[in-house]
Amino acid sequence: VDNNVDNLESNPQVVEAANLLKQNEVVAFPTETVYGLGANATSDEAIAKVYEAKGRPSDNPLIVHIADFSQLNELVLEIPNTAKKLIKKFWPGPLTIIFKVKSNAVSKKVTAGLDTVGIRMPDHRLALALINAANLPIAAPSANSSGKPSPTTAEHVKEDLNGRISGILDGGETGIGVESTVVDCTSEVPVILRPGGITKEAMEREIGNVEIDPALHENLESKPKAPGMKYTHYAPNAPVYLVDGQPEFIQQLVNKCHDEGLAVGVIATEETANMYDADVVRACGSREDLFTVANKLYDTLRSFNSKNVDIIYSEVFPTEGVGLAIMNRLEKAAGHKWIYGNESPKF
Ligand code: TXA
Ligand code: MG
Repeated sequence: VDNNVDNLESNPQVVEAANLLKQNEVVAFPTETVYGLGANATSDEAIAKVYEAKGRPSDNPLIVHIADFSQLNELVLEIPNTAKKLIKKFWPGPLTIIFKVKSNAVSKKVTAGLDTVGIRMPDHRLALALINAANLPIAAPSANSSGKPSPTTAEHVKEDLNGRISGILDGGETGIGVESTVVDCTSEVPVILRPGGITKEAMEREIGNVEIDPALHENLESKPKAPGMKYTHYAPNAPVYLVDGQPEFIQQLVNKCHDEGLAVGVIATEETANMYDADVVRACGSREDLFTVANKLYDTLRSFNSKNVDIIYSEVFPTEGVGLAIMNRLEKAAGHKWIYGNESPKF
């Protein structure tokens, strides 16, 4: 479906997908971040199908997607001032806000039994048209099999979920490429539970101090507040190592593997890709603009699965702006495996 045509809500494919949602079936659809696997948030039956199709642990709650500000009041007990300011600035957009949920507003399976709910209004015409046409709050996790990188194209969704879901609305490639920022506004100082498309810096310009869930800082012992953050995620089939070192150092690691007869993949950038001699080298965006890295990240991680590589070395990025989300996802893909060179990277 072409996102730019008028009257998207009456497009036959949108109407068909909306009807499936009303019948408590699950349908994948694009958002500005990644593809979501949508279902009627008010139906236990529909939500059970989402967990089933993804193979997702049922203690990991889902984000509810809305298309109209009036839907918010029906779902939440209160809208704190910090949330009001964030909504005004960033909705529609890649920001999920955690609120106290009204009882019985959504299926208990959506919140995994928590007394809070994560809500966002996606900045994507097709997603908004679908939600409006269904006239329901739509729960949607990323439309990947649990543990795989999130899908940024309809093809990725098919790779993972073909035959397990009722339909896919194909709106082409998504824009941002990493999932929404999840921010908990139920506490005095809002806390980022998952870094994403809206940066900490951008939020702080609107509402002052914003904290980061301490569990995001690699401390595997502390329990993350966003249940989803505790699972291994985004991992390609071959093990990934994050290398804090210059391309020359990464090339030495590649050479050692070659000596042992291993096939090696490298996650590089446009600036560095031609500095490597490895079996598969992927330029994952440009260091000049980390949003281009975010946009290519999941496709890059997925792409190694169709190649014969035994090990993947990845360059690392500064954890400022969207770099925080990129490094959070790379850390998970690598299972926190780091290799340190003598010097930090200066590209
Ligand atoms: O960009 C996105 O957010 C995409 C698109 C489809 O909208 N969706 C997405 O959903 O990434 P999912 O289910 O893959 O990730 C939801 C994250 C998980 O880490 C989950 O634990 C957290 O949000 N979450 C959801 N509800 C929560 C709640 N009530 N309290 C704390 N964390 C919550
Ligand atoms: Mg996900």
